[in-house]
Amino acid sequence: MKYNRQLLELMCGIFGCIADDAAAMVLEGLRKLEYRGYDSAGLAAIFSPGDSSPIETEKTTGYVSELVSKVNGRFDGAKISIGHTRWATHGGVTDQNAHPHSSNDGNITIVHNGIIENSAELSNRLNNLGYSLSSETDTEVIVHLLDHEIKTQPDGLLILDAFCTVISKLRGSWALAAIVSGHEGILVSRSGAPLVIGRGEAGISVSSDVLPFYGACSEVAYMNDGDNFLLTTNGIVAQDDVEKPTFEALEGVYDEEDPGIFPHMMLKEIHDQPTSLSNVLSGRISADGVNAELSGFDLSPAEIRKLERINLVACGTAYYASEIISSYIRKFTCIRSEAFIASEFPAKSVCSQNTLTIGVSQSGETKDTLDALFEAKKYGSNVSSLCNVIGSTMSRMTGNGAYLHAGPEFAVASTKVFSNMVAAGLLFALTISDIPNLEKKKLVQDLRKLPNIISSQLIDADEAIEQAANLILENGPPIFIGRGGLSSYIAKEGALKMMEISYIPCISLPGGELKHGPIALITQGSPVVALVPSDSKLNLMETSIRECKSRGAKIILITDSEGPISELADILIQTTQTHPDLSPFTHIIPIQLLAYQVGVEKGVNVDRPRNLAKSVTVV
Ligand code: AGP
Repeated sequence: MKYNRQLLELMCGIFGCIADDAAAMVLEGLRKLEYRGYDSAGLAAIFSPGDSSPIETEKTTGYVSELVSKVNGRFDGAKISIGHTRWATHGGVTDQNAHPHSSNDGNITIVHNGIIENSAELSNRLNNLGYSLSSETDTEVIVHLLDHEIKTQPDGLLILDAFCTVISKLRGSWALAAIVSGHEGILVSRSGAPLVIGRGEAGISVSSDVLPFYGACSEVAYMNDGDNFLLTTNGIVAQDDVEKPTFEALEGVYDEEDPGIFPHMMLKEIHDQPTSLSNVLSGRISADGVNAELSGFDLSPAEIRKLERINLVACGTAYYASEIISSYIRKFTCIRSEAFIASEFPAKSVCSQNTLTIGVSQSGETKDTLDALFEAKKYGSNVSSLCNVIGSTMSRMTGNGAYLHAGPEFAVASTKVFSNMVAAGLLFALTISDIPNLEKKKLVQDLRKLPNIISSQLIDADEAIEQAANLILENGPPIFIGRGGLSSYIAKEGALKMMEISYIPCISLPGGELKHGPIALITQGSPVVALVPSDSKLNLMETSIRECKSRGAKIILITDSEGPISELADILIQTTQTHPDLSPFTHIIPIQLLAYQVGVEKGVNVDRPRNLAKSVTVV
């Protein structure tokens, strides 16, 4: 797939289908796409394809489940339906701004992912034509333009021609689906936001990604930027000179979002880590247990060793994982390596033909990261990815790299994928390293034991986590501190995790930085979460902790040390000892559990915290 920087402002989830019970399929599809946004949801349906009465729609703020309740079976038996789950960009989270958007006579309705950059200009044009807009969205202009085009186009032209004329007037990015009363079919267009067509015995469908197709479709066709089609029960209709997409068999299975014995997906995913870590390591360690063998990169380890530098680009949790990965690369090779927040990537200064830029991402759809990779490519860098979602835009764009094999991650707060990013990054660093075999062997041996270690930690931790959560809830925002690269990055991830699922503002910093300002925040009882693995920075961390304690802080100490440092703890969370380079894996577990516990006790929907989306596809 060709990657176009201008055309990657994806948003939200859309699903459409022509089938015997199309609306039910749309509601089910939206449920599976909800990770893409959950501010509001809506659907539209045509019951009898020849009928030219206004199209029925329903929409609501909130989750797809709220839409299902509002619909209350009213759309059963509809033959054509489209639906949408939204992450607001233009206009607030209101019923009015929720999709679908309809023409004033209700005969056309449309769902859209992306951003129409010239919506203000188009809106003025529509006002001059006598149209009034009822929402604050950039999307609504499209439906009125289509209405105008259909009503004014010369005789003999098809509805697809009117649709294509409208599309030619848009600037920005979109995945669009539209239905028109009196017409059979769904009009679809892709430009910068993903759309996949699926077909099977039940009918033909269109979706933002393949997830909803598992079990419902046997074949899929990925639309390309610039494609505009009419989907009908008899197949795909394209304009004369346009190639139709090619279908391929749909491989794989859909893993249901089912927390099983756990109350939330997030807790389940934290507990998935022994398995997901085994999966990322599997087949990537040599039979003699000495070397890491992470394959999938276009460049060989020998070629990579000759590079001037390796850049990592990522956002949020993936960025903190990338900082740890960069530390590993610097430690195990002589190559310069640096992690960059993707939206701040200074491509011009750090990219050339003699560099490699790796995108690190769970979803593989994060626009900031895709943009950074695009920039890297523009300045001559080789590009690769470490991605969790197979077939994602990032993995297809880079065409090489390694998958994280964490399995689907549904909770918005990333947990198991963070660990797998760090593990895959460590495997990468070891694969390209030329440190002595003995040193490598020791680390690789301990790496193989990690799934068991994590498993035992997950059994033991509960009581201390609960006490720590109560301390934070009673005494206010915690400060996370660590020292020496690995731990200070875990501290950053800890603060992010806590903020996103408990809404408590947190800061994190290397322990040594406290005295340069932030220590002013500490008062009697302030919680400080101190990450202290038994490494060369242990003594320095002790100093930082004493500085906090003497100003009244309460210390939540996360450590694998059984030495005197534990006496500084107000609450001690003991982790299992392992190789110091593997401390991120053992120390992130209590951090994730702590954030979870605080979130749950505050009554936050930890799997779907406010204002967030699993896949952040806008700049
Ligand atoms: C993680 O808990 C966050 N929800 C967020 O920071 C996320 O890691 C970031 O948006 C990057 O997403 P990606 O890994 O899908 O690229």
